[in-house]
Amino acid sequence: MLIRPRRLRKNQKIRNLVRETTLTTNDLIMPIFVDENLKENEKKEIKSMPNQYRFSVEGAINEAKEITDLGIPAVILFGIPKHKDETASSAYDKNGVVQRTIRGIKDELGDELLVIADCCLCEYTSHGHCGIVKDGKILNDATLPILAKIALSYAEAGVDIVAPSDMMDGRVKAIREVLEKNGYDDVAIMSYSAKYASSFYGPFREAAESAPKFGDRRSYQMDIGNAREAMREIALDIEEGADLILVKPALPYLDIIRMAKDRFDIPIGGYCVSGEYAMIEAAAKNNWLNRDSAIFEVLMCIKRAGADFIITYWAKEIAKKLKQ
Ligand code: PBG
Repeated sequence: MLIRPRRLRKNQKIRNLVRETTLTTNDLIMPIFVDENLKENEKKEIKSMPNQYRFSVEGAINEAKEITDLGIPAVILFGIPKHKDETASSAYDKNGVVQRTIRGIKDELGDELLVIADCCLCEYTSHGHCGIVKDGKILNDATLPILAKIALSYAEAGVDIVAPSDMMDGRVKAIREVLEKNGYDDVAIMSYSAKYASSFYGPFREAAESAPKFGDRRSYQMDIGNAREAMREIALDIEEGADLILVKPALPYLDIIRMAKDRFDIPIGGYCVSGEYAMIEAAAKNNWLNRDSAIFEVLMCIKRAGADFIITYWAKEIAKKLKQ
């Protein structure tokens, strides 16, 4: 035999030499849940996501410091407010839980850490939907000014990147316009362009208390069977002024990441969501698979599929391992 691919697999050194994909701390974004109902030193474990917590504003700021010390470049913030109503008014409150956290982190860390804030209504509405509801319908255009207000209030607090995750049509344009008009032309938009109506968000909805009180999200999030539609969504968001785009979830949608990578010259992130986390943690707890190598494999494969960066609840842990 002349050709033997196994020669390049003989030992770790040669495998390292020819590995096509790398995973580094620079690729990672760590989510932080900030809960306005918690006292300063309180933190609350999320049952369906072992080792993940909701923090108070002060706790979130400390968490951000730890994340910075590990060399992770960015965090993404999710808020759980005290007050919910029909129009998500606490989402754009100057002194809202996310706005205060952004200010606190920026005061402490400045440019040492990129602060991304998820921009959506569902954590702040009494009905749990990502838009304004009328007669059981989720209204698109009535939601846009609210998303714009949320984005502007984040920008005023000092956010680096806003990340709309609501899936309303035209939201990137609405946000881009309000940012430009108010002098925040350097605030980037990371759009959840291809966000599927997935069952893998289950644990997140426990973490963020954001489950819809009636119906589901299938009239705005994408149908799980569609790939070309995702390309259309991404193209629209780029046209509307998105700077980075996300595919979400990541693991069941690696084909979408790859397709997007081949077609668009824009940074693409994969969001390895709560259900992907919970799935591996639960299997590992039963000793059904090797936890550490499964986590590395999942993240490595999201990169291999074409992701430039990954939002993952394992970011801190991986960063610690990569430091060793
Ligand atoms: C808010 C939002 C969700 C997630 C991120 N932003 C939940 C949803 O759409 O129901 C999910 C993240 C995860 O599951 O880790 N719209």
